Amino acid sequence: MRVIEAKDYADLSRKAANVISAQVILKPHAVLGLATGSTPIGTYKQLIEWYKKGDIDFSAVKSINLDEYVGLMGDNEQSYRYFMNENLFRHININLEHTYVPNGVAADPEEECRRYDALIEEVGGIDLQLLGIGHNGHIGFNEPGQAFEKTTHIVKLGESTIQANARFFESIDDVPRQAITMGIKSIMQAKKLLLIANGPDKKEIVEKALYGPVTPSVPASILQFHPNLTVITCFE
Ligand code: GLP
Repeated sequence: MRVIEAKDYADLSRKAANVISAQVILKPHAVLGLATGSTPIGTYKQLIEWYKKGDIDFSAVKSINLDEYVGLMGDNEQSYRYFMNENLFRHININLEHTYVPNGVAADPEEECRRYDALIEEVGGIDLQLLGIGHNGHIGFNEPGQAFEKTTHIVKLGESTIQANARFFESIDDVPRQAITMGIKSIMQAKKLLLIANGPDKKEIVEKALYGPVTPSVPASILQFHPNLTVITCFE
């Protein structure tokens, strides 16, 4: 594992965007695994800037997002589909039809999970997966549990996740209680992983995840077993 300490959030964002753009330059038809949350926003802004300068071409790229809230339509401002469109996709030349986010309003959510796993296989797996980390160590929405959940599945969100994500909603009651998330197996099968963590409040959980015991009670701890993990942190 490589751990890179960034000077500040702008530096973290530039470094992460550099890793992603290198991937796209080396493999123009790369499959990027993408993430939501406040941490990657600066990374996406940087990628947009470089795209506008003509430095990166996303026309052949496919993207697969980690997760989506159950019950939110893609045009709901709190949905992760909406987040991705607003913070990245509509500013670059990626083909929207090649951007995948789980469907939070699928009639049969279990079937949607199976479809998502099949999709990841169909596109040939993920070349580079970007990850944030929740305060309880979740990656995607793989919440702490008894076992590492393997494939795409429906999760009941933990109380700390609901509280952390309430800041994006009008009231805590509006935060969906369930989500569809890619599983640990799909994440671990990505060829490369890039974990980004920003802020003093993430220091403790990142240290636990990277240097503590590998346990489902800290889902991100499994990343220690990945052969190609890069972590970029800024705890200032
Ligand atoms: C959400 C997402 C995660 C993300 C986490 C941390 O719960 N499902 O993928 O990593 O938030 O978000 P932030 O970057 O805002 O701290």
